[in-house]
Amino acid sequence: MSNTAVAGKVTEKSQNPEKWLIEEPPTLTPEARALFEKYSKNPHHEVIPHIKAIRDNAFQIYPYPCLGRWAFLDLRLRQSPQYPQVLSRIKNGDRYLDIGCCIGQDIRSLVADGAPSENTYGSDMKGDFIDVGYALFRDRATLKTTFIEADIFDADSELNSLEGTVDIVHAASFFHLFDWDEQIKAAKCVVRLLKARPYSMVVGRQLGHVDARPMMYRFISGKPLFRHNVESFARFWKQVGDETGTTWKVEAGFEQGLDDYGEESEMETEEVAKGERWLVYSVCML
Ligand SMILES: C[S@@+](CC[C@H](N)C(=O)[O-])C[C@H]1O[C@@H](n2cnc3c(N)ncnc32)[C@H](O)[C@@H]1O
Repeated sequence: MSNTAVAGKVTEKSQNPEKWLIEEPPTLTPEARALFEKYSKNPHHEVIPHIKAIRDNAFQIYPYPCLGRWAFLDLRLRQSPQYPQVLSRIKNGDRYLDIGCCIGQDIRSLVADGAPSENTYGSDMKGDFIDVGYALFRDRATLKTTFIEADIFDADSELNSLEGTVDIVHAASFFHLFDWDEQIKAAKCVVRLLKARPYSMVVGRQLGHVDARPMMYRFISGKPLFRHNVESFARFWKQVGDETGTTWKVEAGFEQGLDDYGEESEMETEEVAKGERWLVYSVCML
């Protein structure tokens, strides 16, 4: 079956970034508050004004919904079933790369939980987000994470310096930025960066669709982005494996219930299409 034919038609979502700019942050979770007070050493009363000012700046760089809707404060990697394994592997020397890390909140969460920052890498095509992350977490002088400004589709980028050396890649809200063929290209780059051995792993979370389909988000690229369901995601990694000579164990599932946007997943709204929901996954090399 052709991948553009999976859903038969492209679903269009007309979107205006201002719609997902929420002025005030939500009540911080205890984990997020601890990150800003204990890790970043902000006095309690300065946390909210600080993160508001920095977030507004980040939204000017590019209006991603995860910034406008404060989703970066959720520290989603911490909530994933793989988090204890990821944390313990980095503590034991594994090399972790957050691809499309944006402001790098998940890296800071791991480091605050005891992961040695020298084992962590972050990469984003917008270096300004990396600077915003330092400002947000006030750790430019202490964090030993290596940040690499690179477009994953650039074959000559600095990412090449990591080729065959990474154990764990975190890709959150990343593959869903692209159409099927671009996702294959991005995943093949990820495979190239990973060590070619069992237990090399990709973990993440991205928007999916129960029917697996290309969807149009005009504000991003003017072309359809592919939304996976569990079956298409398995088929996707089979193709990645066939084209890279690797084999993968794919575990993926939709999050149940309400989604990030506070809307019922089955509800058709301007921001959440009917059937669209979060796909959480881990993919392990065999
Ligand atoms: C929606 S944000 C997700 C950020 C973060 N992973 C999270 O979950 O909060 C996607 C990030 O991917 C980056 N990005 C987009 N296209 C990219 C590309 N071709 N190569 C590298 N990074 C890219 C963007 O700059 C942005 O920071």
